[in-house]
Amino acid sequence: MKKIVFFLGKGGVGKTTSSAALSFYLSSENKSVYWISIDPAHNLSDIVHLDLHKKTQVNDFLFAEEVDVESYLKSFLHKTTVRMKEMYKYLQIVNLENMFDLLKHSPGMEEYALMYAMKEKIEENENFEYIVIDTPPTGLMLKILSLPFSSKMWIEKLVRWRKKIINHRAAIANINPKKIDKSLALEEENDKVLKELGYQSDYIIFLVNLLSDKSKCKMAVVLNEDEMSLSESLRIINGLRGLKLTLDFAILNKEGTGQKNSEQELNLPIIRIPYLRNAMDIKTLTNLGQRLEKIVK
Ligand SMILES: Nc1ncnc2c1ncn2[C@@H]1O[C@H](COP(=O)(O)OP(=O)(O)OP(=O)(O)O)[C@@H](O)[C@H]1O
Ligand SMILES: [Mg+2]
Repeated sequence: MKKIVFFLGKGGVGKTTSSAALSFYLSSENKSVYWISIDPAHNLSDIVHLDLHKKTQVNDFLFAEEVDVESYLKSFLHKTTVRMKEMYKYLQIVNLENMFDLLKHSPGMEEYALMYAMKEKIEENENFEYIVIDTPPTGLMLKILSLPFSSKMWIEKLVRWRKKIINHRAAIANINPKKIDKSLALEEENDKVLKELGYQSDYIIFLVNLLSDKSKCKMAVVLNEDEMSLSESLRIINGLRGLKLTLDFAILNKEGTGQKNSEQELNLPIIRIPYLRNAMDIKTLTNLGQRLEKIVK
């Protein structure tokens, strides 16, 4: 994969349209493109009129897919549950069934599932030259982007705590072996919890590294000529700054339809897109995409 591009922004500003335009343009230039939507309210199929529940070929060089968030959440919970049950089967006093029910309804589960979906889909499609991501509106997307970073911090802490537990356990076993259940690991390399944390950590680090790789990962914010989408773009810049990530471009979409023009506040190179009479037409989108090509240059 040469480049991965995220289109961020407020609801309705033109994220899907921009991601479509770039995908169609690059594929018209014989570059292989995987265009994916991680917005639970998908719109890619409205443009291509194909069922995109699975990765589907749109033209010679373009494949598109809408991540099925519901089924991803189910399979994510199922896989986690199976591993957790295996790991904690010695804990008979804890009702695991209740715990997993709780997990299913925990806040943040959807974001977690989306983050995992995003990681798996990117990894599965690394053979494409370009991966173009259509994202949900700001609030949800900032949560998804911050999860790998906050999870990394947590996992590092948990690993340290876990290692301490194993060391203490080994020390107790040394003094009185009968005090420690035989099924419990006394060495770090045999501990199932550490293994699980290592597994989680691999996932997370893949995303942290990818998102932080400025040569590969490009981010553009889409906005219109209204105060609200401008202030939301500024919020995105701030939110990303907290993760040490930066935007590469601002796309001022539907130019000429609004009142105010203070996008220079964003301090970003700006790509201007006028109001188009037929913004869903593939030919129009392909032509428009040429303006967006500089994002991946
Ligand atoms: N430059 C444009 N000229 C005219 N119409 C446009 C333009 N860009 C987008 N639109 C139209 O505006 C609407 C919203 O665009 P789009 O779906 O791309 O926004 P979005 O940011 O992806 O929205 P959501 O947050 O709901 O996913 C669509 O009907 C789209 O066809
Ligand atoms: Mg959209």
